Amino acid sequence: MPATAIDLKSEILRLKKERNAVILAHNYQIGEIQDIADYVGDSLGLAYKARDTDAQVIAFCGVHFMAETAKILNPNKTVILPDKDAGCSLEESCPAEDLEAFLKANAEKNYYVIAYINCSGGVKALCDVICTSGNAVKIVNKAPAERPILFVPDANLGAWVMEQTGRKMDLWEGSCYVHVEFTQNSISKIKEEYPDAVVVAHPECTTAVRLLADEVCSTEKMVDFCKTSKVKDIIIVTESGMLNRLRKEAPDKNLIPGPTDHCACNDCKFMKMNTLQKLHDCLDTLTPTVEMPEDIRKRAEAPITKMLEQSK
Ligand code: 13P
Ligand code: SF4
Repeated sequence: MPATAIDLKSEILRLKKERNAVILAHNYQIGEIQDIADYVGDSLGLAYKARDTDAQVIAFCGVHFMAETAKILNPNKTVILPDKDAGCSLEESCPAEDLEAFLKANAEKNYYVIAYINCSGGVKALCDVICTSGNAVKIVNKAPAERPILFVPDANLGAWVMEQTGRKMDLWEGSCYVHVEFTQNSISKIKEEYPDAVVVAHPECTTAVRLLADEVCSTEKMVDFCKTSKVKDIIIVTESGMLNRLRKEAPDKNLIPGPTDHCACNDCKFMKMNTLQKLHDCLDTLTPTVEMPEDIRKRAEAPITKMLEQSK
């Protein structure tokens, strides 16, 4: 086992070359992982990178549904995830069996089902199209006008998209356990502390928090917002790993993490399960891999591919 952080990093780079691997990392990963990754981005950017890579191994530093999306889009690659238990509360809130039973019980509605990408491959396989926070408005605007929409599993993102598009949708009652921790109280308080600041929030936040924001957008769009904002103080209402990326890309800004009622910032325990040591070990052993039955993969691929086409 390598002795120091420098050894660990150089070992990861050596293994990456030996394995012909690419390291993809989400914006919420710890700084050390973001620093060593080939690409850092949001769910949408990561899906494109995973689909288009020539590398034989995709080391996915994010949560399980993101790595699974990589496998669905590029099944001949070996996809590894540093910690196989890195899940997501939104994925947990919508088991495929429950969605299937709901759709059966409501078959007469002939729902057009739109799933936020934060769900399992089994859920994706039951849907018409997938969306991410970065393209949800576009995808809902392209839904057939004559069919009612069922939006799963994030009710907060769904509520925001309804406001943006004017399209009514039936919402699955799921939520992100991290983003619902931001409250009207906690964000109002930090705004009082920084009266000149602008607020940027992720659409997984509750409506009460969103209404306090100047900008609501995906993690990738937060980078553009912070780079181009004329205002110096920016309150970032999302998971704390985002600050690593933003501080690199917008070093001239005073970036303030959005607090909760209990804490000055807000971590996703799943995103933080990945460590440099685990990244090293998964490149070394090429485990744990992300696998899924081929019939489900094929059925899940169609709505993801449709999303990638529709987001152009
Ligand atoms: P983004 O696609 O905006 O990065 O969101 C992913 C996510 O899990 C937010 O909690
Ligand atoms: Fe899931 Fe929320 Fe963590 Fe994103 S921040 S991975 S939505 S639990």
